[in-house]
Amino acid sequence: MILRKNIKGIKVKVPARGKKRNYIYFDNAASTPALIPVLNELCDYLDWYSGVHRGTGYKSLLSSRIYDDSHDIIGRFVGADLARDTVIMVKNTSEAINKLSYRLQLDPADVVITTDMEHHSNDLPWRARARVEYAAIDNEGKLDTENLEQHLKSSYPRTKLLAVCGASNVTGHVNDVHRLAQMAHEYGCPILVDGAQLVPHQGFDMKPHNDAAHIDYLAFSGHKIYSPFGAGVLIGPQKTFAGGPPEHPGGGTVKLVTEDKIFWADPPDRDEAGSPNVIGTYTLARTLRYLNQLGMEKLGQYEQELTGYALSELQQVKGITIYGSKPRVGVISFNLAGIPHALLGAVLCFDAGMGVRTGCFCAQKYVRQLLGLAESEHYLELYDSGRMAKLPGMVRVSLAAYNTREEIDELVKWLKHIAANLYEYRRDYRFAASQGGYLPVDTNYAGELAASLQKYM
Ligand code: ALA
Repeated sequence: MILRKNIKGIKVKVPARGKKRNYIYFDNAASTPALIPVLNELCDYLDWYSGVHRGTGYKSLLSSRIYDDSHDIIGRFVGADLARDTVIMVKNTSEAINKLSYRLQLDPADVVITTDMEHHSNDLPWRARARVEYAAIDNEGKLDTENLEQHLKSSYPRTKLLAVCGASNVTGHVNDVHRLAQMAHEYGCPILVDGAQLVPHQGFDMKPHNDAAHIDYLAFSGHKIYSPFGAGVLIGPQKTFAGGPPEHPGGGTVKLVTEDKIFWADPPDRDEAGSPNVIGTYTLARTLRYLNQLGMEKLGQYEQELTGYALSELQQVKGITIYGSKPRVGVISFNLAGIPHALLGAVLCFDAGMGVRTGCFCAQKYVRQLLGLAESEHYLELYDSGRMAKLPGMVRVSLAAYNTREEIDELVKWLKHIAANLYEYRRDYRFAASQGGYLPVDTNYAGELAASLQKYM
């Protein structure tokens, strides 16, 4: 499989209770590894690297062109209209959404509608700037679109934005964002899609501005699409970003400054203060080009088949509860009866040599609802006593188009084994509050980690 062959670090072995095991990475929703061909291109380009937009040297001229053209490649990857939209480079999706929340110049009485299935990044920035209404979810964690429409209706014309995830980082559930765009536009409301968990799995098309299903704003992160070099993206109409001062004024954001006047630069420069992340932007553009060559559709299909396989195999594990429903990308959260999520994650890490994520995945409201738990004093007690790792939560495995059926088989084998030996695993691990989780009692992981650290620090 060509993608797998080109994944950096795919052959790394990690310590696992006295053995070395091939590391199986199931935390792609958090961050994905880099691609070897892109790293090779980066090494070549680094001979020519220079600061941009401010120098006259040849390398600076070349790097400036590379940086600017990369914006266009990134925009085209998601069907942005480069004559009307701007592509602003930021750190990640969180920063993109925060930037948009500033740029929309919201009044505290304005309404932003978001949903009960959002990552905190698509909730908290809005709370800080407007009145937030939450569209409900159903028992399976799917968005209740009728409820969403009621919000659009009842808050019209105060609604300034519908902010919704393309796919959930907890259940992988995919929203029909183009249909939601049509709905929002009927009420004169633009839509932001948090594409962090969707764009890497299926690609994306913002659709033309004159299409009712057009996506007005899109945010996503490079580090979740095989480009972990600190570049994220915010795309939206130039006019949104052409009015007034930027959130972060500074170098590169102006055309002219006098003692008492500032003439701001055009987008995207106005919103890219300071020396930009040329390397991150370049590698993201090259990564997207590489993925396009492989075919996003093909990669998406492969991942869909793998997800279907994973779901049917996981369902064979005794005591498992899997959350969420179709349509979904390869993000699967579950619990296993008789073992806390954090302990299960620790066993998968320390015994099986796998990388998963446990907890609430920065989507605490959604996870609580999926677990059927009310917000309660219990949470505050755990919080106040510093026992956050004891909060109710889930275990999440998140796939990418380089994972394999064999890796899923290995996961399922371990889960079955753990389910059959709960007592032993509970006995062999202890909760270490100071380390924020469970550790095996018989192994010196601090020593192993220190040895690895010495090599890289
Ligand atoms: N938002 C990322 C995740 O869900 C970090 O893991």
